[in-house]
Amino acid sequence: MGISSFLYVANWKMQFSFNEALSFYKKNKNNFDMMTQKSGHRIVLCPSFDVLYAIIKEAQGSLVFFGAQDCSSHNYGAYTGQICAESLAQIGCSYCIIGHSEYRKYAHSTDLGIGKKAVCLIKQNIKPIICVGETWQEYEHGVAEKIIERQIDAVLLALQQANVVADICIAYEPIWSIGSGKTPPIDYIKSIFKYISLKLEVVKNITSLMLLYGGSVTDENVANLKKISELQGLLVGGASLDFQKFEKIVT
Ligand code: PGA
Repeated sequence: MGISSFLYVANWKMQFSFNEALSFYKKNKNNFDMMTQKSGHRIVLCPSFDVLYAIIKEAQGSLVFFGAQDCSSHNYGAYTGQICAESLAQIGCSYCIIGHSEYRKYAHSTDLGIGKKAVCLIKQNIKPIICVGETWQEYEHGVAEKIIERQIDAVLLALQQANVVADICIAYEPIWSIGSGKTPPIDYIKSIFKYISLKLEVVKNITSLMLLYGGSVTDENVANLKKISELQGLLVGGASLDFQKFEKIVT
């Protein structure tokens, strides 16, 4: 896999208000495009739901792609507070993060629900970025693969039941690494990637897989992370809120 197909996903979480996100985007719009052109990489910005459409409208003609930070596991109906994949497609999202550990925790989402979200997205031609990862305790007990297996199996089951064929991204994000400044050793990330790709190699429903890493990615540790030959992208939280830092990560 050539480096040119690298994916940089900026997860803005709920760090900006509507006005802040819009002005951050407007201020850096041309720079995002230049960054994309110069690097040849794909940049996906994931603002919060409220401002997503406003930014996409602002981005007409831009080279940057957009993603949501979650979606409903239902197509439509009486689900107060939720947003369906069809609407995300209609406003111009190409990607959607699902199964982020913060969403799993605060919105009590289940592995099976995340599988259903993947199906809803795939049916709308939105590429799911499926987050998986273990807690610190699980890491210490050496059971990360077991946890990831459970998380991935639920998605596979949903894909099989819905009989959909998909192109997916899996972001390995150890929960203990998110926002903590700590990252796992390179060899450890490599072994998790190997585990995931071997597991998915034999799955008929998956046509292509991109492996991303997320968790405390910075302009300082990115060179080391890029030594992982299997790495095809990065999911960046905190460091994506500072344009200069994000640019250093990408270029
Ligand atoms: P972080 O967040 O880069 O701030 O650790 C990553 C994420 O939660 O996706």
